[in-house]
Amino acid sequence: MQVLVLPTRDTAALAVAGFLAQTLRRAPDIVMGLPTGRTMIPVYRALVRLHQSGLADFGAATTFNLDEFIGLRPGHPGSFRAYMHQHLFDHVNLRRRASSFPRSGRRSGSAYDRSIERAGGLDVCLVGIGRNGHVGFNEPASTLVAETHRVRLLPATLRANAFLFGDRPDHVPKFAMSMGIGTILRARAVVLLAMGKGKAEIVRAATAGPVTTRVPASLLQTHPNVVVVLDRDAASALPRTRRSPIRGL
Ligand code: GLP
Repeated sequence: MQVLVLPTRDTAALAVAGFLAQTLRRAPDIVMGLPTGRTMIPVYRALVRLHQSGLADFGAATTFNLDEFIGLRPGHPGSFRAYMHQHLFDHVNLRRRASSFPRSGRRSGSAYDRSIERAGGLDVCLVGIGRNGHVGFNEPASTLVAETHRVRLLPATLRANAFLFGDRPDHVPKFAMSMGIGTILRARAVVLLAMGKGKAEIVRAATAGPVTTRVPASLLQTHPNVVVVLDRDAASALPRTRRSPIRGL
């Protein structure tokens, strides 16, 4: 894992947005895995600005979101689809049919994985990390599911997503569909972004602790091409040797 520490939230978000824009310029028909969460809002804001300056063209790109709640009516403002439209899709030139979200239903998880494969596989998968170590909605457990599947969300995750539902954890759907850890690990490159002191301990566990299904993000340590982008606060619990090579950090 390559760990990159930036001084602030904004510079960390900008680094990720810049990386994605550069990848889009090199390979316009890129297939991206995209997450939601508060961490990603400044990344998408920066990507929109890059798009407006002509530096990020989504015209040939394809996106697959990591997860989606089950049971919300189409267009529900708390859905991840609504989040993506609000923060990115409505402001860039991604084709209407080029974005997908996992749907519930029998065999729909494996159908989602097959459509990712048909698109050529994920070139880059951007992920956040939950305070409990979840990645996508792969919650800590004694075993993890490799393919896209239905998950029951843990109370901590309901709380973390309450901001989408008027700060009411009891209004957050209890079930969701999520890419499996295998789906994520098949991406050619993975970029993990975390910010803030509240993520410091779990970032340490995921990047410098043992590989365990109890910290699903730790499985990323087994991937050959992962970049972990952190702000200084999220990096504050890392052992010295895992700090950024950037001078002064
Ligand atoms: C949700 C998403 C995850 C994301 C997590 C982090 O649970 N399903 O993909 O990593 O939020 O959220 P935040 O960035 O708000 O801390």
